[in-house]
This record gives sequence, structure tokens and C-alpha cells, in this order.
Amino acid sequence: MNELENFDPDWLALREPADHAARSRRLEELLAARCAGAARLRIVDLGAGSGSTYRHLAPRLVELGVDAEQDWLFVDHDEALLARAPGGVRTARLDLGDREALRTALSGADLVVGSALLDVLPAEVATVLVEELSALDPRPVVLFALTVSGGAEVEPPASGVAQAFDADQRSRGLGPDATGFVADRFAERGWAVEREATPWRLSASPLLSAWAAGWFGAAGVPVPDVVSAVVPHEDLLAR
Ligand SMILES: C[S@@+](CC[C@H](N)C(=O)[O-])C[C@H]1O[C@@H](n2cnc3c(N)ncnc32)[C@H](O)[C@@H]1O
Repeated sequence: MNELENFDPDWLALREPADHAARSRRLEELLAARCAGAARLRIVDLGAGSGSTYRHLAPRLVELGVDAEQDWLFVDHDEALLARAPGGVRTARLDLGDREALRTALSGADLVVGSALLDVLPAEVATVLVEELSALDPRPVVLFALTVSGGAEVEPPASGVAQAFDADQRSRGLGPDATGFVADRFAERGWAVEREATPWRLSASPLLSAWAAGWFGAAGVPVPDVVSAVVPHEDLLAR
């Protein structure tokens, strides 16, 4: 089993507005179109953390005309983050690499969602995930948002840092290869996959400072003053 990282809740809170702004509205519309007519939706949020996807998507589905009752299940290995789940949301603490536990959590899902997740998963866990999603009958609709896709750019420019950061990410999980890897696994199993670029475009802000500290730090480079950054992400919808 891989060593699981614990994410800082302050970092997740800091990035949440930028994440919500970046998410693909087009893929959300396609997701909502698949929910038409449902009276109740069982929605499983994988790697839910403290619930960023829920805070964005639950009202967004209503805005898009989905009036079904929403029954959310947050799945994460991190008990401290799950303890922050809003009232009325069910939680399941498990490692996504645990196939049996994952199968139980996914049972009966209409929608399976996740954000900022795929890039931290190793290839084996991502493969188990797609296999278990593919075994569901009927298959759910799946939206994985905000997967890091690498090649971030900063102003003033910093030569070689993106390559060093991306290499570090690849040593921890799928990193910037994640969306392509998972899209291929879905396509092999007959899913229709749509992808859309969802970059952060950051100007001077606490988020930019925190992100730059992590980006330069992981590359082993002293952190300079950065005035802006484009941080590529990608959303993936599988039907
Ligand atoms: C970058 S955080 C994103 C959290 C949340 N989706 C958000 O957008 O704020 C990644 C989340 O995935 C969870 N996670 C990573 N690997 C996992 C695994 N193998 N099993 C269960 N949860 C995992 C982490 O605990 C963390 O909450």
C-alpha cells in the first residue's frame, strides 16, 4: 500500500476559491444533462477532503436545473479532513487502493466526483479505481476536476523549475501524467471521455505566495518574488 499524504486543511481552504473559479462549466453542464429526471442522486466524492467539490457542485447542480435529492458520500483516508464534512453528508474513511472498501463505497453511485485527486494517485490505484467504476452496473457519470497537468509558468520566468517540480510530482504519484493515464484507462473500457483545461491564473495574493513556496521548494530552488503564475489543471468527464 502506498504511503498516504495528509493535506493541510489551511492549504485546501486557501485554494478553494481559485479551484471553484477554474472548474469547467461545460463539463458540469454535460454532467447535469445526465441527471435529468432523477428523483434522487447518490453522489460519491473520492478524496473529498473537507468538501470543496460538494460546496461547489451541490448548488451548481441545482442552478443547472437538477432538482433531485442529493445524497453525498465523502470518501477519504484522512479522518481529520472528513471530520470537517458538512452536516447531512455521510463519510467513509478508506484508502482508494483498497479494492473491496472502494467497491462498497461506490455501490449504487449515480455520480462519482473528485477534485485535485488524480495527480496524487499512483498508477496502480488509478487503475483499480477505473476498473471498479467500470464494473458498476449501471455505470455512473464521473467527473474528476482540477488535476494538475504540469508546465506551470511564473512571472518573472524561472527556467527549469517546472521540469524539476513535475519530476518531483511524478516520483510521488501520476503527477502531470494523471489525466492522460486515467483517460486512456477509461477509453479502453468503453467510456466516452471529455477533457478541458482548467488553469489557475494567479496574480499577487496569499494563494500565489503559498503555491510559489511549494513549487520552488519542491524543485529545491530558493523562492523569489513572483508577480503572477499560470498553473495548468485539467477536468475530465467520463460517461
Ligand atoms: C489535494 S487534496 C483535495 C481535497 C479536495 N477534493 C479538494 O479539492 O479540496 C487530495 C485528497 O485526496 C485524499 N487522498 C489521496 N490519496 C488517497 C487515497 N489513496 N485514498 C483516499 N484518499 C486519498 C487526500 O487525503 C486529500 O483529502
